Amino acid sequence: MISKLSIFLTFCLIYYSNCNVDWSGDIKREKWMDYSRELIEKFLNRKINGNVAKNVVFFLGDGMGVSTVTAGRIWKGQLQNRSGEEEITNMEKLDHLALSKTYNIDAQTADSAGTATAFETGVKTRIRAIGVDGNAIDCKTIEKSKLESILDWAHYAGKSVGIVTTTRITHASPAALYAHVHERDMEAYDGKKLTEQDYEDGCRDIASQLIDDNQFINVIFGGGKRKFLPNNTIDPISKRAGDRIDGRNLLEDWKTNMKKQNKKHKYLDNRQEFLNLNSNEFDHVLGLFNWDHMEYESDRVRTSSDIEPSIIEMTEKAIQILKKNPNGYLLFVEGGRIDQAHHNNNARRALDDFVVFDDAIGKSLKMVSLDNTLVVVSADHSHVFTIGGYAVRGNPIFGTVITTESGKLSKFDTDFTSLAYTNGASGLDKIRTENITNNKTEQINYQQEALIKLDYETHGGEEVAIYASGPMAYLFDGTVEQSHIAHHRALQ
Ligand SMILES: *[C@@H]1O[C@H](CO)[C@@H](O)[C@H](O)[C@H]1NC(C)=O
Ligand SMILES: *[C@@H]1O[C@H](CO)[C@@H](O)[C@H](O)[C@H]1NC(C)=O
Ligand SMILES: *[C@@H]1O[C@H](CO)[C@@H](O)[C@H](O)[C@H]1NC(C)=O
Ligand SMILES: *[C@@H]1O[C@H](CO)[C@@H](O)[C@H](O)[C@H]1NC(C)=O
Ligand SMILES: [Zn+2]
Repeated sequence: MISKLSIFLTFCLIYYSNCNVDWSGDIKREKWMDYSRELIEKFLNRKINGNVAKNVVFFLGDGMGVSTVTAGRIWKGQLQNRSGEEEITNMEKLDHLALSKTYNIDAQTADSAGTATAFETGVKTRIRAIGVDGNAIDCKTIEKSKLESILDWAHYAGKSVGIVTTTRITHASPAALYAHVHERDMEAYDGKKLTEQDYEDGCRDIASQLIDDNQFINVIFGGGKRKFLPNNTIDPISKRAGDRIDGRNLLEDWKTNMKKQNKKHKYLDNRQEFLNLNSNEFDHVLGLFNWDHMEYESDRVRTSSDIEPSIIEMTEKAIQILKKNPNGYLLFVEGGRIDQAHHNNNARRALDDFVVFDDAIGKSLKMVSLDNTLVVVSADHSHVFTIGGYAVRGNPIFGTVITTESGKLSKFDTDFTSLAYTNGASGLDKIRTENITNNKTEQINYQQEALIKLDYETHGGEEVAIYASGPMAYLFDGTVEQSHIAHHRALQ
């Protein structure tokens, strides 16, 4: 035992610069030759899938730029005690790839509202606008600017439709599927973001549009009860009141609407009821699991409060409910908080949410047939998040860079993390001249350093990837305007 260990240690000290991971197989050139031989064979034998999609599952990683995919992949591997760089995520298993140009018509770097409108309606619009074209500038111009979405089109085609997110269901990315506002903050009629004057001028809040105008939606899972409850009604779980000043309890209104139409329906607000729900018994399910956004995955697991299902569980349940329709379905699944953790310069929560989002994609791939189901994964925009610094293979992704090829670390000879941001609240007030101590960079609340001090870290402006498999997925190709994604409806 001891001799085996010492042989390994000697071997690893001689052959690798880092003994935590074993990449001895990578030294052999045959490995790389074989890899490409198999890949080319696979490509040569690939059959074009020219079917018309019966079902579509669209996964949106909010803020999931390519640097997040890379760092998230490494983290996913390291969670399994592998070095991480060679890990294969579920999204990268999809066959086809394109790049999406994310700018809004009036913004070089986009927000989630304008981008969601682009990939959900097929028309680019202004920053902060939801479900309306660029003509919408105030409450009076909304009516003539409304756009239909992929959700509407799927519904017209007789399909079932569902929305799953980890944010408030009224947040920008899901909202562009069903609502029309020029200003994304109009989530509830709260007298602040949507005033009485706005209401008189024709603006309707996002939550009421979901309940009043979209009664066909079969599955709605996410957070954000506060936007549906009046200010004198207490949510039984969070013990907090709603935001609404119009006295409407939209959750009760939803139940009333469903009852009137004799729809087999269920409202739920906790994981136990969610797990007990028999998908065959209900065609319309509204599940709101948090007063506000749902928890980050890191926090959900740690508290094990069991109030919230995971995004994997929500994806699975949604497909079970939707797939009963012989005409097929469209399901939108958003990993919505990758973005929000990045805004806090908190890479750990962003990447934990990335990993579970990727696992939800894996779950769906086990449940659907790619013969008749188009699976698309993309992001709305990137973040100013980077991974770099010549760390050795297998270096802990949240760790500091301990050796470099390029010699001295800096003028001050200090260490630094591989992950960093261009801007954000963790921007340094002055140049750090000491090492980062106590391994704090691997702690869950650590905020990676940023160059420019801002209140919040910002989105990034570069392209994001579109991954796709299934019917006519090969038509996702090249570098395209983000709005093009929605037009694959022509193929459904
Ligand atoms: C990884 O290693 C740690 C420490 O040895 C161990 O606690 C953990 O269970 C391992 N995880 C996996 C997925 O093997
Ligand atoms: C609720 O909204 C009504 C209508 O604007 C207002 O009069 C009342 O003060 C609000 N109540 C609370 C608790 O904010
Ligand atoms: C930081 O740590 C490195 C490696 O342990 C060491 O070489 C260097 O001198 C330290 N720098 C400072 C400023 O203490
Ligand atoms: C940091 O972590 C390493 C490896 O896990 C450990 O050897 C070292 O003692 C830790 N240092 C501190 C200051 O906690
Ligand atoms: Zn954002």
